[in-house]
Amino acid sequence: MGQKYYITTPIYYASGDLHIGHSYTTLAADALARYKRMKGYDVYFLTGTDEHGLKVQRKAEKAGKTPKEFVDGIVARIKELWRTLDISYDGFIRTTDDHHRKTVQHIFQTLYEKQDIYKAAYESWYCVGCESFYTETQARSFPGMICPDHGIPLERVKEESYFFRLSKYQDKLLAHIEANPEFIQPQSRRNEVIQFIKGGLEDLCISRTSFTWGIPVPFDPESVVYVWIDALSNYISAIGYPDDLERFNRWWPCDLHLIGKEILRFHAIVWPIILMALDLPLPKQVFAHGWLNLGGKKMSKTMGNVVDPAVLVSKYGLDAVRYFVLREVPFGADGDYTEESLVARINADLANDLGNLLYRTVSMIKRLSHGKIPSPGPENEIDKRFKQACLGALGRVEEQMDALHIDGALEEIMALVARANKYIDETAPWALHKNGDPRYGTVAYYLCECLRIVAELLRPFMVLAPEKIGESLGMTETIGGRPWDDAGRWGVMIPGQDIGEPRVIFPRVETEAPQAPAAGGEKESQPAGQGSTREITIEQFREMDLRVGKVIAAERVEGATKLLKLQVDLGTEVRQVVAGIAQHYAPEELVGKRVIVVVNLAPAQIKGVLSRGMVLAASSGDTLRVVTVDGEIAPGSKVK
Ligand code: MSP
Repeated sequence: MGQKYYITTPIYYASGDLHIGHSYTTLAADALARYKRMKGYDVYFLTGTDEHGLKVQRKAEKAGKTPKEFVDGIVARIKELWRTLDISYDGFIRTTDDHHRKTVQHIFQTLYEKQDIYKAAYESWYCVGCESFYTETQARSFPGMICPDHGIPLERVKEESYFFRLSKYQDKLLAHIEANPEFIQPQSRRNEVIQFIKGGLEDLCISRTSFTWGIPVPFDPESVVYVWIDALSNYISAIGYPDDLERFNRWWPCDLHLIGKEILRFHAIVWPIILMALDLPLPKQVFAHGWLNLGGKKMSKTMGNVVDPAVLVSKYGLDAVRYFVLREVPFGADGDYTEESLVARINADLANDLGNLLYRTVSMIKRLSHGKIPSPGPENEIDKRFKQACLGALGRVEEQMDALHIDGALEEIMALVARANKYIDETAPWALHKNGDPRYGTVAYYLCECLRIVAELLRPFMVLAPEKIGESLGMTETIGGRPWDDAGRWGVMIPGQDIGEPRVIFPRVETEAPQAPAAGGEKESQPAGQGSTREITIEQFREMDLRVGKVIAAERVEGATKLLKLQVDLGTEVRQVVAGIAQHYAPEELVGKRVIVVVNLAPAQIKGVLSRGMVLAASSGDTLRVVTVDGEIAPGSKVK
């Protein structure tokens, strides 16, 4: 068995559906868990649901259900969401699990016997959203006595309660935090916690009597255990504490509790003190990340400004959503979510940089090397430097991941992708091939190796794209089955082996009418000679790759009045092109025509249909005609 790695997410309240903010923590934990598994660790990745407490009880009442019926429904949906996001958790704990209830009661009893718990009268303020108590001074500091995080009024609580002696362990905890700089991270959060403890800890009220949906205090069944004590205990109940000590000792202490910053005090103060009182070792690290905000405010169910991750996945694809969430915000800081930034990331990083690199490389090899991976030829300084950049990527990604800079790891991978695109521009492999220069083989082979390395390095973050890249490169084994260290090796791709098909793995997301006026037929075009047409240079014109294409099939796009889906023979391949010409042509009229296609236009999804290129057409008033060639000319011929 490899070295163990135990990682947890918070257990989410089963009070409603989860949003992209919760998915943020879970996706980050998933990427770390996958990374550690690939590095050979024996990983236990735990997530789950926090199902007791006043908030859940009230929601259930409102829904006309028993609390258990209510949470069962929510938990099923949460699990469904984790399936949609392909979360690779190993354990899912529910605080309504029988074993968990017994563990919590055991902990309560033990602390009571140790006299770390005592009973006293209690009067305080309470926010049901946070499930937290606030002192008089804290409550008065909130404008209108309204919780700033949840926007709901605090409630007055007056009960006979049990208290936990946090104060008794204050100095011991402070000494531990000071002696272990890695225990609470990031650094700024660690400082906050130190300051807070130095201000003096008050004993914590850990039972409630005014509602019933909770775990009963073992020696006083009129009281239920405060939901946070119940919830925090999940991290040890899930791995067998206290009955299965062999299992427990295998995983405990936890390597990483990943949480959002608003629950840091519970994890950096209350939880360690519970463990100290139980004579158990403390977790190795608690890392509090920032918030995903929407419109400048924390996304939260209570505030009602939430984004459903499942909707994003069906609209943009799983890997794009996973990539965006992990790449966009520096891990630890706050970040703003907008759909525009999601689309911008997809188009710039995934469709343009990564997608085009793969497409350009594979189609070049298909065309120029009879579909076989070329043998590398002589190597010059540019090639050497590029190879070094590829070989160094593994170390750079690991360094970032080990420091929990998940966004930084992705940045490193995408920097390599950008470097590869630049390498193509620097070396112009088409020209090398045309001139019979043997360095063509070097460049083409190095690009394949680079793409393989990128695919391997992307595995902790993306779940579908690495295999698609591998397939397109013609790799016969799955990328997923390859050892992680492969990404630091050179010479894995086999010269002479068949390359796969060029694939569009990340289609561009069009935010407006996708096609240019002629093909789209959606916009008015300007008559020649009128208005201000900007001049372009001959080089700019040459950037456009126009080819003769023979239409071999055409059909309407379902649900779209203006669109036809064409299959166009381009000599070396058949491409699907969507054109906005359905109001001007019956599909069968087009079959056999030799049209002009812009073949190097970035691929796009138009009404959910993939379009790879654009058919030129001329329009005048209500008339639109496709541009054809005069006479017989082979499909694929260049138009210049
Ligand atoms: N049940 C408690 C946690 C108990 S852990 C022993 C709880 N649940 S929660 O459903 O409110 O989830 C809180 C966690 O969800 C945050 O700590 C964070 O990990 C994640 N997030 C919820 N909203 C978030 C954002 N808007 N942004 C980032 N993370 C967010 O608190």
